[in-house]
Amino acid sequence: FLGRFISAPGPNDLLIREGAVLVSSTNGHGRIEKTSWTVRSSDEALRLFNVGNVSVIHSPMNGFFFPGFIDTHIHAPQYPNAGIFGKSTLLDWLTTYTFPLEASIGDEGPAAESAVVANGMPAEATNGQPNKKRKVEPLSRAKTVYDKVISRTLSYGTTTASYFATISVPATNVLADLAHTKGQRAYIGRVCMDHPETCPDFYRDETPEQTIGSAIESIEHIQNLDPKGNLLAPIVTPRFAPSCQAESLARLGQLAQDRNLRVQTHISENTGEVELVKTLFPDRRSYADVYDHAGLLTDRTILAHAIHLSDNEISTIVERKSKVSHCPASNSALGSGFCPVRKLLDAGIDVSLGTDVSGGYSVSMLESVRQACLVSRQLGYVNGGEKKWNIGVTEGLWLATVGGAKCVGMEGRLGGFEEGMFWDVQEIKLDDIDSAEQGVGCRGPVDIFGWENWEERVDKWVWNGDDRNVKRVWVGGRLVHERR
Ligand code: GUN
Ligand code: FE
Repeated sequence: FLGRFISAPGPNDLLIREGAVLVSSTNGHGRIEKTSWTVRSSDEALRLFNVGNVSVIHSPMNGFFFPGFIDTHIHAPQYPNAGIFGKSTLLDWLTTYTFPLEASIGDEGPAAESAVVANGMPAEATNGQPNKKRKVEPLSRAKTVYDKVISRTLSYGTTTASYFATISVPATNVLADLAHTKGQRAYIGRVCMDHPETCPDFYRDETPEQTIGSAIESIEHIQNLDPKGNLLAPIVTPRFAPSCQAESLARLGQLAQDRNLRVQTHISENTGEVELVKTLFPDRRSYADVYDHAGLLTDRTILAHAIHLSDNEISTIVERKSKVSHCPASNSALGSGFCPVRKLLDAGIDVSLGTDVSGGYSVSMLESVRQACLVSRQLGYVNGGEKKWNIGVTEGLWLATVGGAKCVGMEGRLGGFEEGMFWDVQEIKLDDIDSAEQGVGCRGPVDIFGWENWEERVDKWVWNGDDRNVKRVWVGGRLVHERR
C-alpha cells in the first residue's frame, strides 16, 4: 500500500504520513510487515522491502488510508429500527420498539410462532392475534437483518464491531456465521435476560439455567468458527442489570472468568433505569456494585453509556480496569444525558465510541465522532462554559480507533499503521475530482477546493463525510467492501 496514511495515535495527535506499507496477504490474518515513511514510488518501495511479485495499491490522489473504525457497542437485531424511536426514552423505548423487534428475530420455535404476526410484531402488540398464515423460511428475518447490518457497517468503514444479538441462539449463530463469511472482525453476544418483572413474557429466558445454557451454546458455536478468536469471538452479554436475576449475573460473571471471555453490558444510561436498579438490588451499594458483586467488572468488560455514575462507581471501574463505550448519538436521541467523557478519561478509564443502533439512529461511526464532539460542547456549556470538556475531531477519531482497540483488548494490534498491526483499514476518497472532471461518477459529500491542508481535509471529512467516501475496506488484509 502506497501513498498517504492518516491516523490518530493520540487524542491530540493527528499523524499524516506518506510512504509505503507492506502487508502479508494471509487472508483475514494480514498484518503490517514493514513500513517506510520515506519512499514515494512503488519501485522504491519494492526495492526497499526486497519483494518482487506483489500487488501495489495506491491511496487516491485526493484521499488517504485510515484505520478502520471500531464500534464497541451496536445491537445488530435493532438495525431495522434505526431512526424509529419517536419521543420515547430508554425504558418505554425498550418495551415499545425494541423488545418486539428483537423477539421477531428469533428462532422458529413455538414461542416465536405465536409471538410473531405478519408485520413481524409480537402478538401482544396487535391485540394477541397471531397470524396463522405466517409461513416463512426459518431464520429468514435474522439472515436478512444481519446480512444488511454487517454490509452497511462495513460500507461505513467499521472493521470491528461488538454486537449484541438477541436471546435466540440460532439467530445469534446466524450473526456469527455471516460476520465470519463477510470478514468483519466481530465480538458477538447472545443477549441474556430472565427477570420476570422487567422482561416481557414473549421475550425472556425462563430460568438462570436457560440463560447460562444458551449463552454457552452460542459461545461454543462462535469458538468453533474461529478457534483462535482473532476475527470472531464470543462476548458474555447480560443485557443490563434490571433485566437479569442476581443469580444469572453471578453465573455469567463466573462463566466469563472460567473461560476468560469478554463481557459487555449497559450501565447507568438513564436516571429511571438507575432508580430501577436501586429497587431491584436493594442490597447493593450502586449500579456498578451490582456488576462488581457478580464478577462482571473485568479488564475485558465493555460498559455502554456510563452517564450517571457516582465518583465511587468511577473508582470501582478504574480499579477493575473495565472499559466504557460512549454512545453520544443514542444518548441524545433517547434523552439519556451527557456522558462526562473527560472525567472518565482523566480518571484513567479507557473510553471508545459506539453507535448503539438503534438507540443510536445511525450505523456510521463518523456520526458517533461528530456527536461526541457536539455533545462535549453542550456539556461544557452546562458546566459554565468550561473548555476542558471539549472533544475535537482528532480526539474523536482517536476514540473511534485507538480507544476502540483498547476497549476490545486489541491495543497495538488495531487502530494504526505500525509494524505488526492488522491491516484493518478504510480507503477514504474525498470529492471525486477525476470522475467529476470527466462528467461521470458520483461526487462525494465533501467538496475540496484544493487549498485546504490535510488536517483541514480530515476535519471536512469528519463533519460532512459518509459511506460515499469509503472506497474500499480491508479486515486482516482481506478486501471486505468495495464501493462501485
Ligand atoms: N439498556 C438495555 N437494553 C438496551 C438497549 O437495547 N439499548 C440501549 N441503548 N440501552 C439498553
Ligand atoms: Fe445499547
